[in-house]
Amino acid sequence: MENKKILVTGGAGFVGSNLVNELHKSGNEIIVIDNFVEGHIENLNPILDDIKLIDSDIRDEKVIEGLAKEDIDVIFHLAASFANEKSVREPILDMEVNIGGTVRLLEFARHNNVERFVYTASSSSFGKSASLPTTEDVKHNPSTPYAISKLAGEYYTLAYNKLYGLGTSSVCYFNVYGPGEYPGEYRNVIPKFILKAINKESLVITGTGEETRDFTYVSDAVAGTILAGEKQNAIGESFNLGSGIETNIKSLAEIINRLCENDAGIKYVSNRNWDMVNRRVTSIEKARKSLGYDPATDIETGIAKTVDWFKEVIE
Ligand SMILES: NC(=O)c1ccc[n+]([C@@H]2O[C@H](COP(=O)([O-])OP(=O)(O)OC[C@H]3O[C@@H](n4cnc5c(N)ncnc54)[C@H](O)[C@@H]3O)[C@@H](O)[C@H]2O)c1
Repeated sequence: MENKKILVTGGAGFVGSNLVNELHKSGNEIIVIDNFVEGHIENLNPILDDIKLIDSDIRDEKVIEGLAKEDIDVIFHLAASFANEKSVREPILDMEVNIGGTVRLLEFARHNNVERFVYTASSSSFGKSASLPTTEDVKHNPSTPYAISKLAGEYYTLAYNKLYGLGTSSVCYFNVYGPGEYPGEYRNVIPKFILKAINKESLVITGTGEETRDFTYVSDAVAGTILAGEKQNAIGESFNLGSGIETNIKSLAEIINRLCENDAGIKYVSNRNWDMVNRRVTSIEKARKSLGYDPATDIETGIAKTVDWFKEVIE
């Protein structure tokens, strides 16, 4: 994607900032909107002078309407109230940002000649019973407010193509990890584990450690997301963007402990009541065939790069 005017919502967040940095490299003009509930300005520091940064909420009607003068070609919509655990505590916020904010941006796109709109969906919307490897057409079974709101956003996005002819696509992420994700109360398992391992503390696994996830390195997720905003055959479609590889949490913890030279081992505690998915891995065949998506980073390499980044930002 080159020479486009692009709005990235949530562009100071983990995946968003990686996406912004990549789009900036290929000469696009970028506007970021982020209210910094989770975003980190450090993620954008090297290119701050070159992008337009709007420190605002996507629910702010005036701010969104004010973007009409910008002649935006493409929107990548990543701003969201993140994620399952937070949504269990704050379901109204989750609904207002993830559904209300998404519809507001879709309305903006519909009335302002936006060519392409890419939404970022979540594998958690597949829920517990998804067959493996999970394909895009498997029945969803969301069980948290976040899994429900992210699925609603996906349906709205695809409906805007059918109803209004807007060039929409949806990409569904599966446990994205990598540089740019700071640990925090609601963040994913990998930054939590790496922080503990660097501090020489035991890694705490909720469950047996046999649970699996499909961990996707951020540059792969970003590459797939850009392809979804470029390819004509992506319009009106959703794509699962994972690694296609199933990794269990115990071996993930072992890799992290080894790479961080942490001898404190692993501790097991009982499962959280909202986290009942035992196995997760996606088929990436649709994205491979239609988009040319080709995830390149294996878990060892990806974790090693993430640990290096952690050491840099923590020290
Ligand atoms: N990281 C993953 O593993 C994963 C998996 C599935 C789906 N997703 C989806 O991908 C997208 C990006 O995820 P991420 O990991 O980068 O999350 P993130 O929390 O790092 O990024 C989201 C960004 O949105 C901003 N934001 C939140 N509410 C906002 C609001 N009301 N107005 C403006 N900005 C707001 C936050 O400050 C943050 O910078 C999200 O939509 C998320 O649901 C991520």
